[in-house]
Amino acid sequence: MSTAHLQKLDTGYYMGLLCGTSADAVHGAIACFAGHTTELVGSLHLPLEEPLRQSMYALGEAAALRAYARLDASLGDLFASTALQLLRCSGLQHDDIVAIGSLGYTAWHRPRPTPPFSLQIADPNRIAWRTGITTVADFRRMDQAAGGEGAPITPAYHVWQFRKPGLHRAVLNLGGIANLTLLPGTEQTSVIGLDTGPANVLLDTWIRHSRGLPMDENGDWAAGGHPIPALLERLLQDEYFDAAAPKSTGPERFNMDWLQQRLIPGDAADVQATLVQLTVETVGRALQQYAPDCQELLLCGGGVHNAAVVQALSQRIGKTRLVSTAHYGVDPDYVEAVACAWLARRRLLEHGCDPGTLATAATPGAVLGAVYHRPQQGSTVSASD
Ligand SMILES: Nc1ncnc2c1ncn2[C@@H]1O[C@H](COP(=O)(O)OP(=O)(O)O)[C@@H](O)[C@H]1O
Ligand SMILES: [Mg+2]
Repeated sequence: MSTAHLQKLDTGYYMGLLCGTSADAVHGAIACFAGHTTELVGSLHLPLEEPLRQSMYALGEAAALRAYARLDASLGDLFASTALQLLRCSGLQHDDIVAIGSLGYTAWHRPRPTPPFSLQIADPNRIAWRTGITTVADFRRMDQAAGGEGAPITPAYHVWQFRKPGLHRAVLNLGGIANLTLLPGTEQTSVIGLDTGPANVLLDTWIRHSRGLPMDENGDWAAGGHPIPALLERLLQDEYFDAAAPKSTGPERFNMDWLQQRLIPGDAADVQATLVQLTVETVGRALQQYAPDCQELLLCGGGVHNAAVVQALSQRIGKTRLVSTAHYGVDPDYVEAVACAWLARRRLLEHGCDPGTLATAATPGAVLGAVYHRPQQGSTVSASD
């Protein structure tokens, strides 16, 4: 690699794209990275139409192969459209972007028993072809091949961006599933990353089922309810919560069936309030178990907009300071998208997983992601999408 090329890979712009388990939107961000600082130069989210969302939720272990294949293609096109829109808004050109890092949409994730597998859709071939930008995707499966969980995949970025010597920190991403990265203030202690359990996925599911709404705006409905202690206790009995880290999960486990099997008669708003407590309690327990000295909890993901969750969390974690990642320069709605951009850069620089900073337990040295090269020059790629 020439020095100039290496310099471009190191300091150039990258785009990150993903659709999380909430399937609310495709999130995109353009960023560049220097030292241990992220410069976010553009961001955008493209909300998903309800029928598309429904067909994504309907994917399951027994779904027809055709349903996966069709969504793989149509989400690939949607990711490409999001990328092109974001490019236009940013004022940058195709050639300014070194690569896109796409996490796709995780259609099915099962880290155990053997063999582990994880299926990401949103065809990266279509993203590369339609945007004219080299695309890096399939980050989870090399991690699994190397003995890791394949999720959460963002802790390595959290380490790079948010770790601060001398300060015990943690990063909590409140997505469909809540994931926590524990960043000890001492270099010698290794970083732990885990999915603590359900967050928005059950909150969205329950309000959709009870009131036909896509989300509990600001957490107002939950705030008007009262948690049901007996229900909370039943929910907490799931063995996932007692399992040791590293661990990962998804809507394959925490879904409407799971909730309905454990429900006891009660007011629907009280159930919503109980689900808020479930999220908060499982995060609180993980913090107590793995980082009892945590001084600062950095918050990101769509759940930061749910005041009921944030308020309950701040009560639960006591003296740990609760701050938005915005406080440290990264918009909480785009931390994951930025992490995807960072993972693409890491892949092209051929940086492997660092020993001791590997949250998902993969073998140090594993280089995550597969590269889908942009079309050769002279092919017809249009930005007028
Ligand atoms: N204004 C809001 N009020 C309450 N909840 C919100 C708000 N905005 C977003 N959310 C929640 O955040 C979710 C999306 O979060 P996100 O981080 O994108 O999760 P994922 O990565 O799983 O897609 C929504 O489905 C919703 O539950
Ligand atoms: Mg989302």
